[in-house]
Amino acid sequence: MKKKLVILGLNSGTSADGLDLALLQLSGSGNRTSIKWLGGSTKKYPEKLRTDILNIADSKTVNLDHLVRLDNALGIFTGRAAKSFINKIESGSIKIDAIASHGQTVRHLTEFGRAGGINARGSLQIGSPEQIATITGKVTVADFRQAEIALGGEGAPVTVDALRRLIPQTGKSELLLNIGGMSNYFYFSGSNKKPIVKAADCGPGNVLLDILSNKLFNEKFDRFGRNASNGNISQRLMTLLRGLPYFAGNSHSTGREQFGVQTVQKIISLGKKLKLSDNDLLATATELTVYAVCRAIEPILKKDQSLTKLYLTGGGVHNKFLCRRLQECMPSVEVLSVAQLGLNPDLIEAASYALLGYSALRSEKRKTVAGKSLSRWLPVSGRIIQPPQIV
Ligand SMILES: Nc1ncnc2c1ncn2[C@@H]1O[C@H](COP(=O)(O)OP(=O)(O)OP(=O)(O)O)[C@@H](O)[C@H]1O
Ligand SMILES: [Mg+2]
Repeated sequence: MKKKLVILGLNSGTSADGLDLALLQLSGSGNRTSIKWLGGSTKKYPEKLRTDILNIADSKTVNLDHLVRLDNALGIFTGRAAKSFINKIESGSIKIDAIASHGQTVRHLTEFGRAGGINARGSLQIGSPEQIATITGKVTVADFRQAEIALGGEGAPVTVDALRRLIPQTGKSELLLNIGGMSNYFYFSGSNKKPIVKAADCGPGNVLLDILSNKLFNEKFDRFGRNASNGNISQRLMTLLRGLPYFAGNSHSTGREQFGVQTVQKIISLGKKLKLSDNDLLATATELTVYAVCRAIEPILKKDQSLTKLYLTGGGVHNKFLCRRLQECMPSVEVLSVAQLGLNPDLIEAASYALLGYSALRSEKRKTVAGKSLSRWLPVSGRIIQPPQIV
């Protein structure tokens, strides 16, 4: 019933590098939602937690007991991180009304398959929201992908409407590219009568670079793209990688199932045959991200020639080699960080979940959903969990 709500959005993406926290004050609804950023931060995952998450996300078979415990363990970690953030904020005059937590994706299955004799697809995010609500004492909204999946969609991308509200409304067409674990674009056409909104995953973002950096250089990621910039892009390897099944399909979302350890093993073994150096492998894997992005975005740039800028979000914005190659491949637009719009590129997704949580608490349906099967129905995304009450 409150006019204004202060919501803490939490996100941990496919890179499993840490938990992003973004605090927003929100009021109004739809295109007239007014948004005030109140703060944010990132809490890195401890090494053991990251390793356990990645092991589960990257293994074909998982120990179910371990997964069940990890769901709660991550919920406890997330709850504690949120609680310490809340304590700091609430020692001032701000009171937080609710938390919106995306959780950590450990499986994202876009293809239908038989389970129990029934055709189904699905996506699993862990990090128990009940733990978060219990530790923080705050109403918590979670599981933002499930409503769309129940309607027959892929459950991704889910942040389209939220991003639309977060970026300044100029009346012009806007194009955003998020380079997290995976890469995804968001296109909003200018203010003509029937605005067009398009969003989809392009393919890999940083994921292959992180796994390669770890295997070949014993580093978590390719800081500023330095290792890739000391290598050469192999066109022969690129020809082989362009043949990966994802690029022949038509899903609009992807995950570590298609671009993960198996793909990296393939890159390493092909690289050996082609006598490539470790730096060449990293340069070529970076080029695969560039290829995936350009392949997805070029049709939009061709159709809407009013686009002059491409705004980047996500950790990939810090990779100079990747950004340079993106700029070279898309000379018709200026490749910029979303920071140029006054937004934090590392926290924009967490902020999007704050907005999704706000919509769920207001029973507001999403406007945009990728996938035709949903055209008659729109989901209200998110499951609302109450904290325990004192007797
Ligand atoms: N200084 C840097 N130089 C190069 N790459 C960086 C740098 N900082 C972060 N990154 C890359 O960004 C990644 C994290 O990005 P981000 O947090 O946006 O991804 P994510 O958590 O997978 O998000 P999502 O999947 O929700 O988009 C890191 O794993 C790393 O590859
Ligand atoms: Mg992250």
